[in-house]
Amino acid sequence: MNEFSALGTEALHGLREDLRKDYARFQERGLKLDLTRGKPSAEQLDFSNELLTLPGAGEYRAADGTDCRNYGGLHGLTELREIFSPLLQVPVEQLIASDNSSLSLMHDTVMHAMLFALPGGSVRWVDVERPAFLCPVPGYDRHFAICEKFGIEMIPVEPTADGGLDIDEIERLAASDARIKGLWFVPKYSNPTGVSVSEGHAARLAAMNAAAADFRIFWDDAYSVHHLTDHHVTVAPILRLCAEAGNADRVFVFGSTSKVTFAGAGVSFLGTSPANLQWYLGHIAKRTIGPDKVNHLRHARFLGDAEGVQKLMEQHRDNLAPKFAKVQEILADSLGGTGIATWTEAFGGYFISLDVLDGTAAEVIRLAKEAGIALTPAGSTYPYGRDVRDRNIRLAPSFPPVADLDTAMRGVVLCVKLAAVEKLLQQS
Ligand SMILES: Cc1ncc(COP(=O)(O)O)c(C=O)c1O
Repeated sequence: MNEFSALGTEALHGLREDLRKDYARFQERGLKLDLTRGKPSAEQLDFSNELLTLPGAGEYRAADGTDCRNYGGLHGLTELREIFSPLLQVPVEQLIASDNSSLSLMHDTVMHAMLFALPGGSVRWVDVERPAFLCPVPGYDRHFAICEKFGIEMIPVEPTADGGLDIDEIERLAASDARIKGLWFVPKYSNPTGVSVSEGHAARLAAMNAAAADFRIFWDDAYSVHHLTDHHVTVAPILRLCAEAGNADRVFVFGSTSKVTFAGAGVSFLGTSPANLQWYLGHIAKRTIGPDKVNHLRHARFLGDAEGVQKLMEQHRDNLAPKFAKVQEILADSLGGTGIATWTEAFGGYFISLDVLDGTAAEVIRLAKEAGIALTPAGSTYPYGRDVRDRNIRLAPSFPPVADLDTAMRGVVLCVKLAAVEKLLQQS
């Protein structure tokens, strides 16, 4: 296909007429399709239906004899922590298992740090004038929402020209200002770009100089086992790297089974240094007497071991890979060579990050909405919803059936083209 920017005004007018007709026809179909959130499909949830029968009548004792029906056990069930310890690269003693949703652990960690000084810190974050977090962009909107809720300023860190992590900038910023207290970081198959951190960059994050003694990396390993190809990316064991670099307390590691078993009824994990763990558990102990250990037990029985988790993830991959392939195929067929869009192709995770012509993302999303296709709101991959170039769109292919995805993506590429032509004509 021709580069749109190389087309003369007349050719652009002709193209616009054709695209407007195609768009009107598309609109007439009265579709209702949703590519917004990275939710597992019902088929994926079915892979774990055995959980609904576990641990089974009369089964409530953990391997160490714990009666899972009762109060207590703030660390979570040992046999479940043992399964996820190698996957999250956190020693069992430093890993706790909690209730559904790792996001709630992240939220509570930030909230407690606002109200109670962290190990190594002398002040509560709420007493810091304009506390701030570093936010590699594009990123996960719910991380940003936590900062916004607590009044933590977000400092976006753009990727390098090749789409990689700008580690130099992160090092520079972290060392420059003691009010910078944290870094949101998705180390593997990140949301939305699918990028994974290199070993060298992980080592630099662990060892870098931070002006704040209580600086923390929120290492959100949400996609640790969510491979889409045979190339299983591994990332460096950040907790160990931090300890070796003399920054043992620098990192909180998060994970969950939301996209392994049930998104609404899974288990979550937090791994960190002994000092951080003591701090966290001390605060959490006032909030709960213990997690849902029956859910821990049924997860441990269902998954068995780390290999059991990997096997289950193979089923997810078989289900998801054709959907991702479909999106890639339509993007390449329709937008390849046009010069109006670029997109990511990841080895895992849940998203494809689509960059459209500068200044057209919001318009693409509006056009799609009016044609019955819901896309993640413009700017949502940026702090405060501010995508200054107005170009990033997060595509989430997991939920719709392939046929719907096909239809929705054909609509999306049409909107991308129409918005681009309108923009180019405005500029000509
Ligand atoms: C990077 C990232 N972290 C966390 C979550 C949510 O995790 P949980 O379901 O464990 O709260 C998501 C969900 O999309 C995510 O993309």
